[in-house]
Amino acid sequence: MNGAVAAGALASPIRSMVPAAQAADGFFELKAVRAKAALLGPGEPETDVWSYNNVVPGPLVRARRGETVKVRLINELDEPTTIHWHGIRIENAMDGVAGLTQAPVQPGDSFDYVFTVPDAGTYWYHSHNKSWEQMARGLYGRLIIDGDADAFATDHTLMIDDWRLADSGAIDEQSLGSMMDWSHGGRLGNWVTVNGTSYPKMQLAADGANRLRLVNPSNARIYELVLKGLNAQLIGLDGQVFDEPRPVDGPLALSPAQRIDLAVFGNGSETAEILALNGSDQIPLAGFSLPKKTDGEGASGGNGNVPLLKPNTLAEPDLDNALSVELNMEGGAMGMMTGARMGGGMMGEGRGTGGMGGGMMGGGGMMGMRDLVQNGFAWAFNGVAGMPEKPLFSVPRGRTVRLTMINDTRWPHAMHLHGHHFRVLSRDGEPEPGTPWRDTVTAGVAQAQNVEIAFVADNPGKWLLHCHMAEHMAAGMVTWFEVA
Ligand code: C2O
Ligand code: CU
Repeated sequence: MNGAVAAGALASPIRSMVPAAQAADGFFELKAVRAKAALLGPGEPETDVWSYNNVVPGPLVRARRGETVKVRLINELDEPTTIHWHGIRIENAMDGVAGLTQAPVQPGDSFDYVFTVPDAGTYWYHSHNKSWEQMARGLYGRLIIDGDADAFATDHTLMIDDWRLADSGAIDEQSLGSMMDWSHGGRLGNWVTVNGTSYPKMQLAADGANRLRLVNPSNARIYELVLKGLNAQLIGLDGQVFDEPRPVDGPLALSPAQRIDLAVFGNGSETAEILALNGSDQIPLAGFSLPKKTDGEGASGGNGNVPLLKPNTLAEPDLDNALSVELNMEGGAMGMMTGARMGGGMMGEGRGTGGMGGGMMGGGGMMGMRDLVQNGFAWAFNGVAGMPEKPLFSVPRGRTVRLTMINDTRWPHAMHLHGHHFRVLSRDGEPEPGTPWRDTVTAGVAQAQNVEIAFVADNPGKWLLHCHMAEHMAAGMVTWFEVA
């Protein structure tokens, strides 16, 4: 890797600035290990977390577009784990999905991830075994791929996470796996951190464009974000930058696993903030300071030039020759689902999969809701709860897939496709402006119920398609497809 992956290279004042853990063979080591984190802020009781290299978020993994990343996961936890490189169009065997692309890494074992990164942009990594528990305990980190000309004055990543903490600052463990959360909106926290701390302050440059990368590693929360004291332009989503910046009109919705890239400039104020809307409240998340300009003219201002970013090269969907697939999303509290078949495929996301990483052995006939719930299921895709034995579809490499997701539930869902980016074509039949590339799209309630996407299935292997609300995935909202 030749030092391409470095920890703490970003200018964010956070605890993730640990020295790079470089092994003699060039691998960057990520050690999954119990640690303590100052989630409540300095001077407050620390929280027992699960971490990579003792910090939450885990160390920054950073490389240049086209390079090969080599990371060794060392599991020092008491249960199996894996790492998924979210949003990277990766070789299938390196995708990190326990029970589909690899066996979970047992306590005391290690696994070498070696993959090239075709796209520049904002990504992240996280556990993909029992992620409803392992992500909630802190197993995630930043993954930044640099392009050719990312000439921003400052570059900050904000990982916005909500934790469910007791008054003591400890993670509320009793509610982990609560069927109430699993069948409703997922595990929502009561304490928000940015980069593992409470209200960090970041320095922005007075002159030039500042890059803000917003990442949502939360189990289930959708944020509505607003910026105060800054002029902002949207430059990319889910790791894919636009040809040209787009205006920010109104609050920015950020669903679990999604990323928003912004170019921001001071607007004349000396301080600025990012806040989350919460009903009629506004929760301050992080502060920014803007130095006075050297000419003494007061705080910086204006809406300068955004450095031109070179979009990644992705194959355009060929809608005339597409394979059309429908995905019906069913179940959950207040839903209409009366029963489903239980999938018999192996995957490490259900309950009790800490030991062997498998589980969800079912298969066979229809089950009523009561039996499903007893087995930890509350949701289904096309009448199947949990990982089906057979793929949702198989497609020859290079063919376009047009996927219509129909949300028949009373809840929003953050639908994530592995191994590919897709274009969002329409919502409830209305063409989506700019048909952005994404890897995770929100379907439901506040937004349209039905979302149509398309992508070229050009990455061979077995890939997951699931709701990224970790409890919804664990409780049934998961399937897979195969590119031959
Ligand atoms: Cu971010 Cu299936 O994962
Ligand atoms: Cu969901």
